[in-house]
Parts: sequence; C-alpha cells; structure tokens
Amino acid sequence: MNVLMVASECAPFVKTGGLADVVGALPQALAQVGIDCRTVLPAYPSLQPLVAKGKEVASFGDLPGGAGRLVQVKAKGITLLLLDAPRQFDRPGQPYTDQNGADWADNHQRFAALAQAAARISFDGLGDWRPDVVHAHDWQAALAPVYLKQEGRAGPKSVLTIHNIAFQGRYGAHVLNELGLRADWFNPDGLEYYGDVGFLKGGMMFADRITTVSPTYAREILTPHFGMGLDGVLHARANSLSGILNGIDTNIWNPADDTTLAATYDSRSLRRKDTNRKEISEHLGLDPKCDGPLFCVISRLTHQKGLDALAGAVPHIVARGGQLAVLGTGEPGLEDAFREAAGTFTSNVGVHIGFDEGLAHLLQGGSDAILIPSRFEPCGLTQLCALRYGTLPVVARTGGLADTVIDANAAALAAKCATGFVFGDVSVAGVQAAIDRVVSCYSNKTAWQSMQRAAMRQPVDWEQSAQAYANLYGELAE
Ligand code: ADP
Ligand code: GLC
Repeated sequence: MNVLMVASECAPFVKTGGLADVVGALPQALAQVGIDCRTVLPAYPSLQPLVAKGKEVASFGDLPGGAGRLVQVKAKGITLLLLDAPRQFDRPGQPYTDQNGADWADNHQRFAALAQAAARISFDGLGDWRPDVVHAHDWQAALAPVYLKQEGRAGPKSVLTIHNIAFQGRYGAHVLNELGLRADWFNPDGLEYYGDVGFLKGGMMFADRITTVSPTYAREILTPHFGMGLDGVLHARANSLSGILNGIDTNIWNPADDTTLAATYDSRSLRRKDTNRKEISEHLGLDPKCDGPLFCVISRLTHQKGLDALAGAVPHIVARGGQLAVLGTGEPGLEDAFREAAGTFTSNVGVHIGFDEGLAHLLQGGSDAILIPSRFEPCGLTQLCALRYGTLPVVARTGGLADTVIDANAAALAAKCATGFVFGDVSVAGVQAAIDRVVSCYSNKTAWQSMQRAAMRQPVDWEQSAQAYANLYGELAE
C-alpha cells in the first residue's frame, strides 16, 4: 500500500504546531505496518539545503502562482517530495505569514499549487511508485481531493484529515478561475462557502473519507458550536467521518533517554524529576525552595487554548503555594499578560516568550503538572508528552483532551487508573477550581506518584492509530 501525504508542515523540518509533529511521525509509524509513504511539502527556505541534495522527479510550468518542480529526497526517515516553487515558497517569513505576522496575500495560490502538484503526480505516480491513497492534511492541502476528482478519471482514493476546523482557507469567488477550479462546482454542494471559495469545505465535499484527530472532536464538530460553520457539511458526510487519535513519537519524547534533560528518569526514578525542576528554576529565575507543585504551559498563546482564563488564575496558583512556567508565543495581549505576571510574582512565575523545543522537553521533564484549559482541542499533543513524562495533565473536557486523560475522581483513584485532572468550565473560576484539586492531591505524595505511574503506563505512541489509518486506507483501496 502506497500513500501520498500532502501537508504544509512536517517536523523536524518546518513546524508551527502539532500538525507538523503528526505529519512527521505518521509515515514512520505507517512504515511499521507495511505502508510506504511519500510526503509532498513546500520547499520553504529552511528546506532549500535538502532540495539541493535531492533529485527532480516532476516539473510543472503552470502551477497557481508560478512554475514548480518536485524534488525527492529522503531525510530523517521520511521520503519527501519537496515542492520547489521559488515564487510561492522561497521567501523569508513564516509558512503562512510574513515577517509582520500578516497572512501572505497569495496563500490561496501557494497552497493551491501544493495541492495541484500532489494531484498531478497521483495518477501516473513516480517511476514504479504509484499512490493507492492521497492523504491531505488541513485546509492547506484540502484542494488535493478536489483536483483529483476534477480529473474525472479513475485514480487513487483520498482522505482529508481535519487537524483544526477553525482554519478553513476561505477566499473570494474570483480565485476560482485563477486556481483552475471548475466553475460549475461553485455551488453549496461543491466549493462554494457563503459566496466564497472554501478550501477546507471543498476538500470535505470531495474527499472519499474525512478524518479528524480524536473521536470526541469528530462528534463535537457535528455541532454548530464546534463546527464553525461547517457542521452542516459534516452532517451531510457523517457516514464518511471518523476520529483517529494522534500519537507522539516516543523516541523523541522519552524521559529515559532525553538528552535535553538535566536528569533522565523512568517510572521507578521519578525523584530525578527534581533535578530537572531545579534546572527550570535556574533558567526562569524561580525560587528553588518552593515545595508546592510546578505547573507548566507549552502552547500557542491563543483564544483556542483558553490561556486568558489561566492568566486570570495566576494569582491563585501563587496563593496556593504553586509555581508556573510558561513557554509560548501568540497573541500579543496574552504574551503581555504572562510577562506581566512574571514581573509581579518574580519568584513563582517564569515566562519564556518564544519557540524553544529544548525548553519544551525540560518543562515536561521537570514540572509536576501541565495546564491545558483549551476551549476546543482537536487532539492536543502536549498532554500526551506530559503523560509519558509523568507530568500530570490538567485539561479541559474537550476533544482529544477528553479522550486521553483520565480524571482523578474517586473511582479512578481507587482503581489506580487516574492520570490527570479534567474540568468542564473554561473560565478563571474553573481553572482555579482545577488548581485547588491539583494542590490538594499533590500533598499526598503516594497518591500523586501512583497517578504519575499510571500516566507513564498509558500508551501514547502511534501503534494503534497507525493501524487504524492502515485499516481505513485498506477499505478505500479495495
Ligand atoms: P497545536 O497544534 O494546536 O498548537 P498541539 O498540542 O497539537 O497544539 O501541538 C503543539 C506542538 O507544538 C507540541 O509539539 C508542543 O510541544 C509544541 N509547542 C507549542 N508551543 C511551543 C513553544 N513555544 N516552544 C516549543 N514547542 C512548542
Ligand atoms: C491542530 C490542533 C491540535 C492537534 C494538532 C495535530 O493544531 O489544534 O489539537 O493536536 O492539530 O493534529
């Protein structure tokens, strides 16, 4: 079975969030169950050194926005098909935004080009490799199923995975022609979305199967609140929709063998986490003598993540004798709020505004709990890393958070299967109440350690989910 992945990010090469982690890890997990993947990825500047090492396998004179070619190169266990289209992708800035943080004005062309390049090689394949399934991720790749169907001939089947329905790729109707999309498909049963062209909408209409990244989110997006305007479309396609949980790369996230930690550990040497906590204290200027729990946040600082509610609860963490370490970037207002908290509570709150993989590992290695008060969370990966690191997740009951964390209620504690704290109300009061529960549980070291061990036993790798994708591909290719 051959699968052509199409995505706009892929760790460790280019990453703005969890999408990259998934796109980077899934092909390697699928290889274990006999699936051979190639991944079409834009050649952003950071990928140009790999382009130079690769071999051109296809070229196109007329992609949206300019010419391009696909360059095949194997790196970090992934076979990449880099879309070397300099006019669209070889420019300074971020994958989706310019140096000032504004969306690139030609994003519709850039990501239509990505989808089109993928679709064009899908029918005839490359040499003796031909995909059985094309698997597109998020709105940036969502036109791939559309272009495939436009060909009007038998070809590979398609899967669209929605990692976050909040990002939809919506552009004025005038782009239809420029992107080579069929004008007669510009209707509510096709590409049209409230008078505009919807990339994600189009992908949802034309993909053979739609998946999202947790079973709970798959149900949630059928409701107006979580569906964000696309719940009706999903209802129409409900028989083709399913949720498959993300995993994490347990080689990269392994506390027993993590070179970024001050001290490695496993479930029998949990006290070694203290050494990592000391390192965090030093790094962020926290009081090392504090004996309350150290909470951490590793996140995009956005409304989705509910961190405004957390910002309001910071004084409560301090009042209850805890500490907080925040790593993140995002909305300026939230960045300021956490900087300000660190200025007010200098010995109990430390903040690093920025993106820092090493610090993310250290925070997982040395914190007692991770706070994830998301308003919605398709899957979430940081709670999975946290489970593996014996750092108890404190999460809102939504999406993949609800599917992966077992709340420390009386029954779960008695059965020794509790792995974290789950709360319903994303508000300052809701976060404060959750913090109270954590603080009181933390004072019982035996109970806490038992939860840590249960957390570390929970499988968070890709094994089960890779098999679920393999089954899905198998059904489609039959
Ligand atoms: P999302 O994709 O919605 O941002 P996820 O939890 O799925 O959320 O994935 C986020 C990924 O990005 C995780 O791998 C997390 O460790 C990482 N991450 C987020 N913010 C930072 C940061 N400031 N520095 C380092 N890693 C970060
Ligand atoms: C999105 C979601 C996140 C998910 C990630 C990977 O960024 O916000 O919940 O874990 O995609 O699927």
